Amino acid sequence: MRIAVFGAGYLGATQAACLAELGHEVVGVDVDPAKLATLDAGEVPFYEPGLGDVLRRNVAAGRLRFTSSHEQAAAFTGVYFLCVGTPQKEGEFAADLGYVETVIDTLAPLVTGPAVIFGKSTVPVGTAQRLGARARELSPAGTGLEVAWNPEFLREGFAVQDTLHPDRLVLGIDRHRPGRAEEVAREVYAQLLAEDVPFLITDLATAELVKTAANAFLATKVSFINAISEVCEAVGADVTVLADALGYDVRIGRRFLDAGIGFGGGCLPKDIRAFMARAGELGADQALTFLREVDTINMRRRSRMVELVRHTCGSLLGVRVAVLGAAFKPDSDDVRDSPALNVAGQLQLQGASVNVYDPKAMDNSRALFPTLGYAPTAADACQGADVVLVLTEWSEFRKLQPGDLDAVVRNKVLIDGRNCLDPQQWRGAGWTYCGLGRP
Ligand code: UGA
Repeated sequence: MRIAVFGAGYLGATQAACLAELGHEVVGVDVDPAKLATLDAGEVPFYEPGLGDVLRRNVAAGRLRFTSSHEQAAAFTGVYFLCVGTPQKEGEFAADLGYVETVIDTLAPLVTGPAVIFGKSTVPVGTAQRLGARARELSPAGTGLEVAWNPEFLREGFAVQDTLHPDRLVLGIDRHRPGRAEEVAREVYAQLLAEDVPFLITDLATAELVKTAANAFLATKVSFINAISEVCEAVGADVTVLADALGYDVRIGRRFLDAGIGFGGGCLPKDIRAFMARAGELGADQALTFLREVDTINMRRRSRMVELVRHTCGSLLGVRVAVLGAAFKPDSDDVRDSPALNVAGQLQLQGASVNVYDPKAMDNSRALFPTLGYAPTAADACQGADVVLVLTEWSEFRKLQPGDLDAVVRNKVLIDGRNCLDPQQWRGAGWTYCGLGRP
């Protein structure tokens, strides 16, 4: 099939490359010429394991190209995927739908025949219905232009795997206007459906809500274990052992029960806030007040980490802090709302001298926090450090041995903000080891 994908960020670039990998002929559309040139040359403008191979293979095979021309994309096909960002509005909890609306307003007038727009971006419930009406009104195709919602559940760091082997596919269709969306989606995803990926057809609102509810649940699970971690700290219990024990109950499950400095990134934090804002607009705000607590517990982890450093070092003034990890999670260079960078920034603002190292997120970190110190390796960041903080659980840091840092630091003090190192090993080597929610 011929497919046009609007937006070439984390979601869109992955979607375009993976749809081409499924055998389709794909054109990716974005407004950023630098990004398009990079992608056209077969380079991914961000770090995502495995995506470069898929991209290069499909660009070379002629199945994938990029353009800034909506006209070209509209003329190329009648199957469109909407993959632009929906960030948090400045100074508000609600999502900013500006990019989504711009694509509809630009694309719809160019669509002259039967076509389907599949929305993938995370949007407040009710958006798809509204965009559908707007698209029909603006398009010469009128009711021939359908808007369906096909939320995306990919995780950064596993984007290719999650797109080519998803846990499920969800498709929301306008029940009042039965059209071709389901039939087209079945063709787009034929290969995945043949592999028995569960395919759920819903109304538009349910599809939008599945996505928001999934992220709200994941955020709640992380904040739950972090709240328990605070209690563990109060009594000297060990949250990591507790999480293992909880995880054996299949109703609970072990995943997403890693206590630490909490969740960040471009999705979970803004999605729970947008969900609360939307519930308020719908008159159902009481239903989601617990998400405010989820958010508060999460943000408290960052201040707790800062306090722990202050407590451990006696003061922050002039203390040399090595920060290992800046990305919001490992295997990503994304620093949007990163707990690690937030902690590093707070420590510096309160008088510490901070040196950051991250395997992949250095450029993005520098752009966001230019005043922090940056070091080319973990050992360099730890040079003369009074305290070492592990704030993102990259495998490079999990593999660190006390011997790697013994001769480098000024004081052998390690605070493990992701509970990813072995306390016994570090204590055995003469280090003061401190985890979160651990004795
Ligand atoms: C999240 C969802 O997991 C995806 O399903 C969803 O598609 C995506 O948002 C999105 O809406 O686009 P992602 O933001 O890539 O994916 O990251 P996660 O793997 O969910 O991790 C989020 C944060 O939670 C990270 O900062 C991570 O360090 C933290 N986390 C995760 C914990 O603190 N503890 C855990 O046990 C798990």
